[in-house]
Amino acid sequence: MWKGRFTGQTAQIVQRFTQSLDLDWRLAAYDIRGSIAHARMLRSVGLLTDDEERRIETGLLEIGTEIASGTLVPTQELEDVHMNIESRLIEKIGPAGAKLHTGRSRNDQVAVTVRLFLRDQLLGMAEDMEALLSALLRLAERHRLTVIPGYTHLQQAQPVSFGHYLMAHFTAFSRDYDRLFYALRSLNECPLGAGALAGSTLPLDRHFTAAELGFPSPTRNSLDTVAQRDYMLDYHSFASLFAVHCSRLCEDFILYSSQEFGWLLLPDSFCTGSSMMPQKKNADVLELLRGKTGQIVGHQMDLYVTLKGLPMTYDRDLQEDKRGLWASLATVSDMIHALTALLCEVDVNEERAAAGMADGLILATDVAEELVRRGIPFREAHEKVGHLVKECLARGKGLFDLSREEWAELLPELDGDLLGNLSIHAAVERRKTFGGTGFDQVAEQIRYGVAAVEEAKERRERYAADLPVIE
Ligand code: ARG
Repeated sequence: MWKGRFTGQTAQIVQRFTQSLDLDWRLAAYDIRGSIAHARMLRSVGLLTDDEERRIETGLLEIGTEIASGTLVPTQELEDVHMNIESRLIEKIGPAGAKLHTGRSRNDQVAVTVRLFLRDQLLGMAEDMEALLSALLRLAERHRLTVIPGYTHLQQAQPVSFGHYLMAHFTAFSRDYDRLFYALRSLNECPLGAGALAGSTLPLDRHFTAAELGFPSPTRNSLDTVAQRDYMLDYHSFASLFAVHCSRLCEDFILYSSQEFGWLLLPDSFCTGSSMMPQKKNADVLELLRGKTGQIVGHQMDLYVTLKGLPMTYDRDLQEDKRGLWASLATVSDMIHALTALLCEVDVNEERAAAGMADGLILATDVAEELVRRGIPFREAHEKVGHLVKECLARGKGLFDLSREEWAELLPELDGDLLGNLSIHAAVERRKTFGGTGFDQVAEQIRYGVAAVEEAKERRERYAADLPVIE
């Protein structure tokens, strides 16, 4: 392609080292779609005749079929997907094909191609995320009245609704969804026409190509267009935080299903056994979900480090942007699917959860707040109940085991009349603060969540409505 300027051949090692076919051959259909848009634009501004444009378009579509059926095999000498397709086009249709690259560089070409591909990928991923969010909503609804211990510092703190706990993850994943959608927005500008870096002396119509490819507008600055990969980092930011959220959920589930906690029930179908220890049921899927998080964050770091200090504008370093992106997309997609499927099948052993809270000490805050209701300053109440807990521990008793006399002795302010009201279930029910664990509050969160997922879905469908179909 650049033979004019050179006298020597490219060295063998250089061909192998600089080619990007292993990364970009999968983009062929998107490259073709971008080229068709470019050709139509060239015709519209008079740089191609109707006949030339028609031959280019037909040729490109045929090449698409050749690639899909495996008859066109790319060669390393032609370096990347762009040049393989263009050279095949020239081979097929001659001089008209040689006009396709008018006013275009691979710098704006690769940028548009990847954005088209990523847009499709992220739309699919957004749909998968909606399924994950819906699975969490269903599970939360099923377990709205299921009570589990809530933990801070991994020590029993206050009882909560398991539905509330699940809605916590829902809330985090909803923010991830918004970040994913933000990436869909930031990639949604058309790079074509930026050329190598500076635009073109030819009368290219950038708005035409943008509309043709379903982008609301062309990018604003040609230098930035070929230099930046922010939209990829926007995806990576979503992916990293999603993976971190995912790994925290998994860590919880691994703990809660272990013998020591034992109140979370994992489906056999998502666990594996041990080759040696017959009794084992290991939560390998959860561990792998947790374990894949490092790669996802790593792919984000990879691109950050590549971009840092990179001179304006395009540098060949940018070719490496795809490696981590592809890996991340594949892994995150698998993670969403696995987690969604697993969530559909987890259950709670309620007796076991209750047994873990049987000493009632998890209700200490409730007792203190009862004293507050009777006018005692909270700090004082806290100390009194702290003393009560100390006595319980010393006597080897739980709160529920204290006799009326012991209550009167240890907390005379209560006159023993808290006895009947003290229950784990009631403790959850009474936490009616907005966003709290009270069963009604959880119902409210679920209602809000259902509406939010519905809205997200509509937003995605609106976004996707007028996009060109690329197969
Ligand atoms: N394969 C290249 C990439 O992925 C295409 C752009 C090459 N541009 C260049 N001036 N060498 O980034």
